[in-house]
Amino acid sequence: MSDILTDVTDGVMTITFNRPDKKNSITRAMYAAMADALVQARDQDAIRVVVFQGHEAIFSAGNDIADFLERPPTTADSPVYRFLFGIASFPKPVIAAVCGPAVGIGTTMLMHCDLVYAGDNAAFSLPFVNLGLCPEAASSLLVPQMLGYHRAAEALLLGEPFMAEAALEVGLVNRIVPPTEANHLAQAQARKMASKPIRSLVETKRLMKKGQAQLVEKQMTEEGESFSRMLGEPAAREAFTAFMEKRRPDFSKV
Ligand code: COA
Repeated sequence: MSDILTDVTDGVMTITFNRPDKKNSITRAMYAAMADALVQARDQDAIRVVVFQGHEAIFSAGNDIADFLERPPTTADSPVYRFLFGIASFPKPVIAAVCGPAVGIGTTMLMHCDLVYAGDNAAFSLPFVNLGLCPEAASSLLVPQMLGYHRAAEALLLGEPFMAEAALEVGLVNRIVPPTEANHLAQAQARKMASKPIRSLVETKRLMKKGQAQLVEKQMTEEGESFSRMLGEPAAREAFTAFMEKRRPDFSKV
């Protein structure tokens, strides 16, 4: 079975992370599949809303570390950047259902979703500094805007996880429900939205986002340049190798 499942029903495209044995960490092939699915959803009139979901115990552990070590993304047409620019500029509504850990891009992609429903077990984290990296997905711009600077610094400079309640308080999630209900709620809201006039949905989203669409794109480009460079530097290589070897990283020499 595929690591990314896509389904279109009642005007809703559902994209499901389906790699639970690796905590839904995302490989190049998965980014490519999601980027392609977003293009399809953007271009097909029959698709009005997109839902991203994982499983009750895990949303996503972020980038697949082994894959990143082997084939780091270096160019703008890399699958991860195609996905990120695709979701950041996606014109129709996007809804996410998040249960369990949402690490790295598992959290940053939510900044580009319109509605987010969380299971009460959701744990969000942005551990870029712990990995010798820097933020991506325009999170260095959007996290301070959403959380306020000092809470953003706690999340991004300490890399400490925050739970569903904290995410609700700052407005990163719309509602907290039991993990068994999160995907159902996202689906129900998506169907409700899909029954509304599509041109109204698209124009409303465009108007809400247009103030900083260019800023987001610029920030993502600059972050991407730094992120790609830092992936090859000693701190990231130590962090990633330590993860693969199931030990704590030693940053004393980097
Ligand atoms: N990339 C590749 N493999 C990953 C992964 C990732 N990001 N996250 C988890 N896995 C793999 C583990 O290596 C393990 O594989 P194995 O069974 O072959 O040893 C399997 O998924 C289960 O992971 P494990 O860490 O044992 O699960 P857990 O429930 O104890 O913890 C997480 C879950 C998500 C908290 C933890 O896996 C984690 O922190 N992952 C790293 C997340 C990260 O740093 N992502 C950012 C990348 S830029």
